[in-house]
Amino acid sequence: MALSAPTSYFSCVSGSIDTKASLSSPFKLLKLPPIWPWQKVKMGPFSVSPMGFGTWAWGNQLLWGYQESMNPDLEQTFNMAVENGVNFFDTADSYGTGRLNGQSEKLLGKFIRESKGRKQRQDDIVVATKFAAYPWRVTPGQFVKACKSSLERMQLEQIGIGQLHWSTANYAPLQEFALWDGLVAMYEQGLVRAVGVSNYGPKQLLKIHDYLKIRGVPLCSAQVQFSLLSMGEDQMEIKNICDSLGIRLISYSPLGLGMLTGKYTASKLPRGPRALLFRRILPGLEPLLNSLREVAQRRSKTVSQVAINWCICKGTVPIPGVKNVKQAEENLGALGWRLSSEELLQIEYAARESPGRMIQNIFQTR
Ligand SMILES: NC(=O)c1ccc[n+]([C@@H]2O[C@H](COP(=O)([O-])OP(=O)(O)OC[C@H]3O[C@@H](n4cnc5c(N)ncnc54)[C@H](OP(=O)(O)O)[C@@H]3O)[C@@H](O)[C@H]2O)c1
Repeated sequence: MALSAPTSYFSCVSGSIDTKASLSSPFKLLKLPPIWPWQKVKMGPFSVSPMGFGTWAWGNQLLWGYQESMNPDLEQTFNMAVENGVNFFDTADSYGTGRLNGQSEKLLGKFIRESKGRKQRQDDIVVATKFAAYPWRVTPGQFVKACKSSLERMQLEQIGIGQLHWSTANYAPLQEFALWDGLVAMYEQGLVRAVGVSNYGPKQLLKIHDYLKIRGVPLCSAQVQFSLLSMGEDQMEIKNICDSLGIRLISYSPLGLGMLTGKYTASKLPRGPRALLFRRILPGLEPLLNSLREVAQRRSKTVSQVAINWCICKGTVPIPGVKNVKQAEENLGALGWRLSSEELLQIEYAARESPGRMIQNIFQTR
């Protein structure tokens, strides 16, 4: 299937132009802005690309098969993304397995610093990191310390968005107050420019929003698992709350950990623990994947691009995980166009008809 090229290379907002002609044309040097200013999305104090990239895989050997030999390719992936207007990257202090703990933040910081000395671009990049609610982080001071450690790993002066990775309300309600006050403290000390949450359900989201408001701290973003495999009532309720309070919803795992790329089948599974999950879910995804393929073919897009575009059409900022230039390039083709309302209905109907669903993150609260 033909790939839809990244917007900056070959097309502008209204559609694509003949790629071959543009490549051989003397006008190919005329570079259009990759993402036009009016296509950027407001997220708290920031103006971000309508899609960011996730970096969970950068350092994770167990689930994602990361190896240090991938670093040059990851750096190229990062540079290519930035050159094409992506200025939003998600990471976490818990990303990276075993001795590689923190590797995702380290790599992201290194790539930003080394991004060919383009100071203006570096300043434009928004890093959102997440602080894990480890059981030993029980005071606000320990969260401030965690934030300083992240800054140290990334060697940055300030973090764009400091997010709580998950709420402890379900199993350690008292610790929850340390999380909230920790967020307030890092904001007041200027360690983070804005604050956000992750895996907060509708009830907890309202609670923390109200608490932060009293403390004079605006809640900028809420990150949840949101995709065609994960579009239940909770997700829609969270989205409505976000819209009414001016919080930006960030959709994580927009490709269902890879299942919505269309490249895996029950007989073609990824290596590692994902295989166990995919074996269970994929057989129930036929109606959805067929519908995605149909729309993709009609639009000369790929299945991944349609799945990501669906998240954008729902008013969220998706952060697909990328492991190489090819994936980033393909995912960039999710920008610069929109599914029609009929296509959205068709795909959502197929998703509801499909018995396969993603499992909820165990840390997701109500
Ligand atoms: N807050 C949280 O608790 C939480 C939880 C999960 C994720 N996140 C964030 O959300 C980000 C994205 O979620 P995710 O990484 O879990 O899953 P995802 O975005 O649904 O899937 C990403 C994976 O799909 C494959 N892929 C991506 N683009 C592709 C393409 N164009 N063609 C073929 N394969 C492609 C890659 O893996 P393979 O090539 O190995 O298949 C990639 O690692 C994470 O990186 C992380 O930053 C946050």
